Amino acid sequence: MLNKRIIPISLPVTGQEEWEALKEPLISGWLTSGPKVREFEQLFAERHGVKHALAVTSATTALHLALVALDIKEGDEVIVPAFTWVSTANVVLYCGAKVVFVDIDPFTFNINPEDLSKRITSKTKAIIPVHLFGLCADMDKIKEIAGNIPLIEDGACAAGASYKGTPAGGLGTIGCFSFHPRKSVTTGEGGMITTNDDKLAEIMGMLRNHGASISEEQRHHGAKPYMLPDFNALGYNYRMTDLQGAVGVVQIKKLDQFINEREKWANFYTKELDSIPWLRTPKHGADYKHGWQSFVTFVDEFKSPASRNEIMELLQQQGISTRPGTHAVHMLNFYKEKFNIQPSDYPGAQAANNYSMSIPLHNRMVAEDFDYVVSVIKAL
Ligand SMILES: Cc1ncc(COP(=O)(O)O)c(C=O)c1O
Repeated sequence: MLNKRIIPISLPVTGQEEWEALKEPLISGWLTSGPKVREFEQLFAERHGVKHALAVTSATTALHLALVALDIKEGDEVIVPAFTWVSTANVVLYCGAKVVFVDIDPFTFNINPEDLSKRITSKTKAIIPVHLFGLCADMDKIKEIAGNIPLIEDGACAAGASYKGTPAGGLGTIGCFSFHPRKSVTTGEGGMITTNDDKLAEIMGMLRNHGASISEEQRHHGAKPYMLPDFNALGYNYRMTDLQGAVGVVQIKKLDQFINEREKWANFYTKELDSIPWLRTPKHGADYKHGWQSFVTFVDEFKSPASRNEIMELLQQQGISTRPGTHAVHMLNFYKEKFNIQPSDYPGAQAANNYSMSIPLHNRMVAEDFDYVVSVIKAL
């Protein structure tokens, strides 16, 4: 066994370059959304093969704006996977609409298409497929079932991922991304909306800036900077700062390098851990380019030496951080009590909630860290 190490579940790769990039907006004094955010948006749009990319404050606010732009309101239903981060469902409630959960496939952790077809009603106004942990949902199957219902990709974890050669963010009507520090590229907090629809881009661009008819930058640099714009809709302040934009410009250029490194180590984990009978490593078809935001395994408690939670505790004692992949939203107190849902109503999500285990995979880990994780898990 190698000497004990401390390995966090995730660590962002930020340093001198990001530090240098922050100087420009700080010295120029343009701190809110401006030239750096525009540059970041352009690079993000190019990398993801989409016409429009709009930076916002988080994936949560991106998802919220997407729903508002699609005019989701009281009386409407929006379908959300039961196993995802809570905000994928929360945003539906922000709009006064009804969350309809769909079960997931515990092998991919993404929407179970068969269950999706049972959840659609005449009130379904949008579906939010989540590309969980960086693996795209099976969008062709979902589209076939959804027909004309708009699809909002929750690609919070999926920057740089693709499906049948098309990058995440261009697979549905609108795509939403996160730059939280646990994602492959980060701006501290932050999000991005993508779309190929000019009208939706215009609406979401306006809504992120209080509903103003022009941006602050357009006004300041326009002919009449002293005139306040008109406000055409009930909007929000979801603007990304240029400080974040400057960091984003540096980070997005490293995305492919980060993913390639993660892919190499994900393959190493798979090769080394696949012989363990109680641990299932993530698998995906050849049509998918995984973004490897996380490496999420599944503990088979019928075969494992201890329960999933005990295994997480044993690993923690040896310096290895783990987490459940994410949570089943229908099992969280707020949803359980408000909507009177049973855990077993969504068995795939329930299993993923109870038995998934994310092990460390990030770009600050070195070969010895991966060897250590593998040797400790094998010795359990
Ligand atoms: C699937 C999913 N959706 C949405 C979010 C929310 O992202 P943010 O923290 O940028 O609001 C997350 C964050 O972890 C996520 O994993």
